[in-house]
Amino acid sequence: MQLNIVDDYDALSRAGAALMADLIAAKPAASIILATGETPMGVYRELAALRQRAQLDASRLRIFQLDAYMGLGPDDRRSLYGWMRRSFLDPLGVPDASVVRLPGDAPDPEAVCAAYDAAAQAAGGIDLAVLGLGPNGHLGFNEPPVDAAAPTRVVALTPASVESNARYWGGPDDVPCYALTAGMSVLLAARQTLLVVSGAHKRAILYRVVAGPITPDVPASYLQQANNVTILADKAAWGE
Ligand code: F6R
Repeated sequence: MQLNIVDDYDALSRAGAALMADLIAAKPAASIILATGETPMGVYRELAALRQRAQLDASRLRIFQLDAYMGLGPDDRRSLYGWMRRSFLDPLGVPDASVVRLPGDAPDPEAVCAAYDAAAQAAGGIDLAVLGLGPNGHLGFNEPPVDAAAPTRVVALTPASVESNARYWGGPDDVPCYALTAGMSVLLAARQTLLVVSGAHKRAILYRVVAGPITPDVPASYLQQANNVTILADKAAWGE
């Protein structure tokens, strides 16, 4: 696990984009699990700027959606797929057909979760997982406590996650209580992981992720044992 501390959010965004651009240059058809949430948005904007300058071709990527709220179609304003489309797929020129979705509105959510894990296997594994860190240590919607072997599945959101996601949707009552998430087993098997962490409100949990025990109570602490993990944090998240 490598911890890179950079000055601020802009520097984090540039460094994250450089890491992703290197991977994409080396493997243009890479399979990437992609988070939404606020933290990686600057990384995606930097990548879009690289594309506009014709310095990046992301059109052959295969993108795996990290998580989805249960019961929402892709056009619901709260859909994480819609967010990923606006922030990454459209600006980077990745067609919908190249995305392995977690459709929150599927009639058989268990079946789509199993199909997702099968698709990751069929792709030869995940080349890069781009993740943000939840205030309770969650990755995707792998809420604590979680087993490292947990597959992709339906989960109930903890009150902490409902609370932290409420800011996006106008209030806690608008946050769905269930979600689909890529499982810890899929995330931990990725050949490379980029975890982006910004802001003083993440300081306590980031310290536990990096320096605390590996525990189901802090899902991201399992990254201590994963392959080729880069944590990019700004000074606000780590301290001077
Ligand atoms: C988003 C996701 C979440 C976020 C995490 C951090 O797809 O799966 O795990 O990455 O909650 O969110 P931000 O970046 O908004 O602090």
